[in-house]
Amino acid sequence: MSESIVPGLPAARGITHRRRSPIEACADAPPIPFHRTVLCEGDVAAVTAVLRSGWLTTGPRAKELETGIAALLGRRHALALNSATSALFLAYKAAGVGPGDDVLVPAMTFVATAEVALHLGARPVIVDVDDETLLLDLKDLERKLTRRARVIAPVHYAGHPCAMAPLRAIAAAERLAIVEDAAHCLTGHEGGHRPGEGTLGAALSFYATKELPIGEGGALVSDDEGVIERARRWSLHGISKPAHARMQVGARAIYDVEDIGFKMNLPDVLAALGVAQLPRMEAHRARREALAQRYDAALAFVPGIRPLRVRPGFTSARHLYVVRVDAKSAGLDRDELAAELGARGIGTSVHFTPIHEMTALKSLLGTRPGDCPVASRAGREVLSLPLHPALTDEECDRVTNELRAIVAARAP
Ligand SMILES: Cc1ncc(COP(=O)(O)O)c(C=O)c1O
Repeated sequence: MSESIVPGLPAARGITHRRRSPIEACADAPPIPFHRTVLCEGDVAAVTAVLRSGWLTTGPRAKELETGIAALLGRRHALALNSATSALFLAYKAAGVGPGDDVLVPAMTFVATAEVALHLGARPVIVDVDDETLLLDLKDLERKLTRRARVIAPVHYAGHPCAMAPLRAIAAAERLAIVEDAAHCLTGHEGGHRPGEGTLGAALSFYATKELPIGEGGALVSDDEGVIERARRWSLHGISKPAHARMQVGARAIYDVEDIGFKMNLPDVLAALGVAQLPRMEAHRARREALAQRYDAALAFVPGIRPLRVRPGFTSARHLYVVRVDAKSAGLDRDELAAELGARGIGTSVHFTPIHEMTALKSLLGTRPGDCPVASRAGREVLSLPLHPALTDEECDRVTNELRAIVAARAP
């Protein structure tokens, strides 16, 4: 393979750039996609070993991933699942969420945080966000708490952990459970305190563009063994004994269905890809941190462009690099800037259109833009620039040079 090692990534021996397509290779400046998943030969070997092993579904590799994830986050337990969506669902269910309950979620999130509450018969209550970090706003949270509230679901947006102490104080006073949506925050922490500490648990995502990309997958982490054991049973039809234990030669094949469950388990084929990549997570975070600081420096004085900041005392997982575009000062709005960058071969994304503005939630919950004004404004302004461990310094510089040139041509 004619691939090169990613620069500045000490633990990434064998991690290689994606081979360019012939069309890209011919172009003067190859496109910079919003995201690129970069795997190494060891990752491929780990997956093929499972394919050759005769056992494809949940088994020893899923167990190994659970052990590795729990160790990385300093949690007692982890449950490997097919998505963070499943992890959120099972955690809400473990908290006893059901019809008549409210689950408080921030507006700046992916729909999953709210959607699974609806599947349990509960009502998502959508809370506004802090203008500086786009994390759950505590004042609005307190305003929107009702007697129906059962769970608060803070989202560690873009990888920046929420401040958990004040949230825990509110939850304790109101006797609520906290379920953390840590889909963006595998490696982020608040002074060493990581997701799942002092809460019911935290949901992680291993979706294709996330920190630990395995295609589709996730995990629930918790220090509460009871939560994980109930979630484990629900994740596999409420069956008393998982298939891998039942199907060993000489094992008793009979099982009972102890509860009514679902099918949310993670197959070993995908778990192996997670196990192989886990040791690189901190080096990848460090690389994204260096790139984020490079972006920060280059974009510091661009009119109308305001990068999201990391608060002192917090270590962001740096899952996303988000800037806000103020149309008046920049001379063009977020959508125009995204289109101009796209025309110059630079991919971007938007995280997120706030969920209270989504058609289905508006019609189900009767939400209006004025319910979360800070999120509504942010939803028109946020733009995510390419950020992943295989992005080179040169690519990062090209993004900022193009962005600066676009704004210089348009700013008043
Ligand atoms: C904040 C947030 N929560 C939850 C999810 C759902 O993750 P998954 O696709 O693993 O179910 C995502 C996915 O993008 C997300 O961004």
